[in-house]
Amino acid sequence: MNLDRNHALALDAADPLRHWRDRFVLPSEGGGAELTYLCGHSLGAQPVLAAEYVEEVMRDWRKLAVDAHFAAAHPWMTYHLRLAPALAGLVGAEPGEVVAMNTLTANLHLMLVSFYRPAGDRTALMIERNAFPSDRYAAESQVRFHGLDPARDLVELAPREGEDCLRTEDVIEAIGRAGPRLATVLLPGVQYLTGQALDVAGITAAARRAGCTVGWDLAHAIGNVPVALHDAGADFAVWCHYKYLNGGPGAVAGAYVHARHARDGALPRFAGWWGNDRASRFRMAPAFEAASGAEGWQLGNPPILALAPVAASLAHFESAGLAALRAKSVALTGYLEVLIDARLAGRVTILTPRDPQARGAQLSLRLECGRDRARAAFDGLRARGFVPDWREPGVIRAAPVPFYNGYDDAWRFVDALDAELRRE
Ligand SMILES: Cc1ncc(COP(=O)(O)O)c(C=O)c1O
Repeated sequence: MNLDRNHALALDAADPLRHWRDRFVLPSEGGGAELTYLCGHSLGAQPVLAAEYVEEVMRDWRKLAVDAHFAAAHPWMTYHLRLAPALAGLVGAEPGEVVAMNTLTANLHLMLVSFYRPAGDRTALMIERNAFPSDRYAAESQVRFHGLDPARDLVELAPREGEDCLRTEDVIEAIGRAGPRLATVLLPGVQYLTGQALDVAGITAAARRAGCTVGWDLAHAIGNVPVALHDAGADFAVWCHYKYLNGGPGAVAGAYVHARHARDGALPRFAGWWGNDRASRFRMAPAFEAASGAEGWQLGNPPILALAPVAASLAHFESAGLAALRAKSVALTGYLEVLIDARLAGRVTILTPRDPQARGAQLSLRLECGRDRARAAFDGLRARGFVPDWREPGVIRAAPVPFYNGYDDAWRFVDALDAELRRE
C-alpha cells in the first residue's frame, strides 16, 4: 500500500460516495476551520436535510396546529410509520417488526419486561462484563425487579485473559453451558469500547437452541454494519439513532420485536395508549388492545420534531444504500488500519478485531505510553482540530464514517497522532 498523502487524495477523488460529504454539516472550530470529525460512532454529523424536515413540522404546527395530525403532508398520527421501511432495511426486519420510540434505555426496559421472564430454573440474564453501563444497569435492575440476585442471575461474558474481544466460539460455548439456567441473552451488535461486531446470526441461533430469548443492543451497529435480525430469529433489539443514524442528540430511539411475537397478547408488557391498536385507540376504552408488531410497545405519542431529523437521515440511507456505504466503510477503515500499523507500530495497539467482518467503521486505539501521556496525546489531537473520542480507561475511538469521511481524513489523523506521540 502506498502510504503517501497523494494516494489518500487519489482514493478520495475516486470514491463514488464522495459527494455525500456535501450533504452533511461538519463542525468547525469557532465557526472557522472545519474540524476533522471522526466521532460518528458517538454522535453523527447533521444532515443538511434535517433542518428542512424539522422546518416542515414547524410549518405544519404553525399553519395546521392540531389538524396536522391528519392533514399534514406527513401526518403526525402516522409519522413514525414513515421511518419504518428504511429502519427495517437497516436491521434486516419487516417494517411491522420495528418502531421508532423513546430512548434506547427506556426501550431496553420495555423489551426486558416482555422477554426476560425468569421462571423455574431459567432465571439468568446473560450480558457481557464490559457492557455499556446503561445496559448493565437496566439488566441488573430487571433481575432485582424479579426479586432475584444479580450475583447469581446476572451471568457475565468476558474476553479471555489478556484479550480484548470476545471469541464467538467462547460465547456459544458459554450459552450452551449456562443453557438450562438462561432466561435471556442480551448482547451488543457492535461492542462500544472495542468496536467488535459480534456474530448476530450465530449467537442468536445458539441462544435459541439453548431455549432462551435473545435480544441485541444495536446502538453501534445500526447504519454501520448490516444486521439480519428477522432471519437470525432474534426476539428483540433496541438501538439509538444519534450515532451512525445521524438523527441528532438524544434522538428518538428504535426497537424491533420478531414477527412471531406480533400478536402475542399473553406477553406481559408495560402499556401506553400509543401502543393500542390504531383502529381502536381513540375509542378511549379502558381495555388495552395491543397494536400488532413492534408498534404495540409504544407508550405515548411520539415527539414529531425529534423524529424529523431521523427521517431525513433515513432518506439518505435509502438513496445511498447500506451495501455501498458498508463497502466504502470496509475499505476506509482498512486504510486507517494499514496506516496505523505502518506508522505507529509498537506505540499504538488496535483493540478492534482485524477481520473486517468482525468490526464496523470504528477502530479503538490503546496508546502504549501510559494513561496520562495517552490523554495528553488525545488533547493534542483535539487542539489540532481532530475529533475522535476518549473512553476510560484510556482508549481513543476513531470512526471514519463513509457518508462524510474520506481517506485524507484518515491520513491526516494518523499523521497528527504520530506527531503527538513524538512530542516530549
Ligand atoms: C451500547 C449503548 N447502550 C446504551 C446506550 C444508552 O443510550 P440512551 O442514552 O440513548 O438510552 C448507549 C449510548 O451511547 C450505548 O452506546
